[in-house]
Order: sequence, then C-alpha cells, then structure tokens
Amino acid sequence: MLEIRNLHKSLGGKHVLRGVNLVVEKGEALVVIGGSGCGKSVMLKHILGLMKPDQGSIHIDGRDIAKLTERELYGVRQQFGMLFQAAALFDSMTVADNVSFALDEHSKFSTAEKKEIVAKKLGIVGLPGVEKMFPADLSGGMKKRVALARAIAADPDFLLYDEPTTGLDPIMSDVINELIVKLKKTLKVTSIVVTHDMASARKIADRIAMLHEGTIRIHATPDEVYASDDPIVKRFINGQASEEQMKEVWGYTATQAGEGAKG
Ligand SMILES: Nc1ncnc2c1ncn2[C@@H]1O[C@H](COP(=O)(O)OP(=O)(O)O)[C@@H](O)[C@H]1O
Ligand SMILES: [Mg+2]
Repeated sequence: MLEIRNLHKSLGGKHVLRGVNLVVEKGEALVVIGGSGCGKSVMLKHILGLMKPDQGSIHIDGRDIAKLTERELYGVRQQFGMLFQAAALFDSMTVADNVSFALDEHSKFSTAEKKEIVAKKLGIVGLPGVEKMFPADLSGGMKKRVALARAIAADPDFLLYDEPTTGLDPIMSDVINELIVKLKKTLKVTSIVVTHDMASARKIADRIAMLHEGTIRIHATPDEVYASDDPIVKRFINGQASEEQMKEVWGYTATQAGEGAKG
C-alpha cells in the first residue's frame, strides 16, 4: 500500500502541493487528473523519492521513505517501474539493450536469462521479435511500448505513468490504455496513472483522484466522479474553462464578451 500524508511542496516560490492526502490500495489503478501545471508530476517525483517533502510524508508498505538511507531508498525504487511522457529510450542502443537496461542493475541475471526476460516482456507489450531494432526505426506508439517493456522488465510492484498517451493519436492511445489495464490484471501491479485525458481515465481507473490548487479535490470511483456536483470537478471532466481561465487566456470573460456583442 502507498500513502501520501499531508504533503506540502513549494517550488520556484509557488506553494504547489498544499496538503495532499491520498491512499493507493494494492493492485488498484489510480488515475490522477488535474490541470496542466497543478503538480501531478511533482507528486509522482515525491513517490519515487526524487523530491523531498517540505512537510508531510510518503509511506510505502508502512515505511516513511523520507526516513530511509540512500541504499534503502534504492531498494524501494527497484519496486517501481516508470513510464515517462517522452519514452526516453537510448537511441544508440538496440531495443533489447534498452529493455534489459533495468536488469543490468540486478547483476543476478545471466545473459541468457536477460535475453529470455526481454523476449517475454516484448511479447507482453505486443512487440515480439523487435530486439535488434533501434528506437529510430520505431513509431511513437512502438517506442512507448518498448519503454513499457523496460518499465516492467524487473517485475515491479508499482507502475507509475506520467501522461502515457500524450502525443499519440486516439487509436494508439487506446492501445496504450488497453495495455495499462492488461498489465494491472496480469502482473497484479499497483498502477498510478497521471493524465489529463478523461477518456483514458474512464477506461483505466478503479479510482480517480483530482488534484486542484494543491489538494485532492475528489477521490472516488469513475462513476462517482462523473456524477459529482462539484463545479470544479464538473468543469474539468467536461473540458470547460472557468470564467477566470477564459479571462487569463483571452483577457475577458464569456459574460463580458456577450455584453460586448449586445452593445
Ligand atoms: N524543479 C522545479 N523547479 C521549479 N518549479 C517547478 C519544478 N518542477 C515543477 N515546478 C513547478 O511546479 C508546478 C507543478 O508542476 P508539475 O508537477 O510539472 O505540473 P503537472 O501537473 O502539469 O505535471 C508548475 O508550476 C511548475 O512550473
Ligand atoms: Mg506533468
């Protein structure tokens, strides 16, 4: 189980996280939604121990990760697989070397074992036999899937995805979403998926958490989120800008524009 307690973080003079509380149960898929720049990636970085809380704590299987030594933290990180927005493959390395990269830290595997693991993980993501190819030979969606094979190479307990479908067309997005669901079921991993795409959220989520102005605005099942009366939640899931957001972008609000048209 993973638990975030009263997490606060300021960055660049901005109080980004203002008391985030969130529990992620074993084996569930939690989708984190929220506007661009609201702190979703910052939250993920705290879970990975890449950023330290100003206040509050992160507990993984009951252990406060801020209290761990570097060596212990390294051990905890081994439990995580991560898929970033950019697939971040090494261009000069073959697909096989990219996938087995995560295994090289576990020196326990022989070359033959590594080869077998790579083949198996590429099969899981639907790309059998591409070991000898280079990232430059792959489409955007294939790169994402290779990155996913790498994320699952060392059999993680947690899979974190940061905007996994951004930049992909709707069909390829759906392939990635299906894979996220499949990995959750077959590998029994606990998944945390950051996205601003509600279609993806609906497909993947056991539960959805919305980050808004530094705290969790709603944490509920997809059906409950869609039925929410909270205007902030409703606006986000319907993709509508608020009057303030319109003003920020256009310099005037819809109401003011209407008045201008009348006059
Ligand atoms: N390393 C950093 N230094 C300064 N500001 C940062 C840093 N990382 C993130 N921020 C700021 O924190 C806010 C949240 O960023 P982020 O978590 O990346 O947003 P998103 O929800 O889009 O993932 C943004 O205003 C961003 O500019
Ligand atoms: Mg982000």
